[in-house]
Amino acid sequence: MNITRRGFLQGAIGLAGAGMTGALTVPALKTLLPPPITRCNSDDAHETLTYKKEEGKWYEDKGGNIAQKEDFKLWDVAIVNWAPKELEEELGSCEIQLALAKVPSESGMEGLGISIDDGNAMMMAYHTYKCPHLCCKPVFTPQGKSTISGNNFENMFLCPCHLSMFDPLDIIKNVDEQGRDVMAAKLLEGPAPYGLPVVPIGEKDGGLIGLTTHLDWLKYCGQG
Ligand code: FES
Repeated sequence: MNITRRGFLQGAIGLAGAGMTGALTVPALKTLLPPPITRCNSDDAHETLTYKKEEGKWYEDKGGNIAQKEDFKLWDVAIVNWAPKELEEELGSCEIQLALAKVPSESGMEGLGISIDDGNAMMMAYHTYKCPHLCCKPVFTPQGKSTISGNNFENMFLCPCHLSMFDPLDIIKNVDEQGRDVMAAKLLEGPAPYGLPVVPIGEKDGGLIGLTTHLDWLKYCGQG
């Protein structure tokens, strides 16, 4: 068999390459890779639900503090900052805001909020950072009159952009546009495709934290 000089060189290069690959262990390869690009400052990450600094709100004096269930009366709602380190990886955000509320306990909330007042009330967090329609920020509205149905309402999340209305007491399973199951405050009216997702919460060292178990429920409007 004739082996040309060119063929010999190609074979030699291939063998050398294979030898190098075998010699480089996985840790060694990792040192050759550039570090992942991150925008978020890991020192700022927090799983706690921390009151947003907002003038004129009942939690104005608590701005920057970690929310505690004892702070709330029934139907108190506070905007809290949430910045777990998983947010950047899963949603591409460093921090988002949620609406944290003390609401009457209803079936469907089990495992999502924190039961208080001998089971009569729940602490719940709602993803008011982005409406499932076109990404505006729904606002808790104690009472009003719907301009869509003309009905009076109490204690709803209302989206200011196209008036989708979500019921914080009616937590149901929806299917999002990607076919994922999402636990959400039921859409009562308006153009949103489904309800307002909830964020499961827990308690740690006396403060409230958001759980990252269902970040997939928040993957819409350019997040995730
Ligand atoms: S963005 Fe919320 S109803 Fe359109």
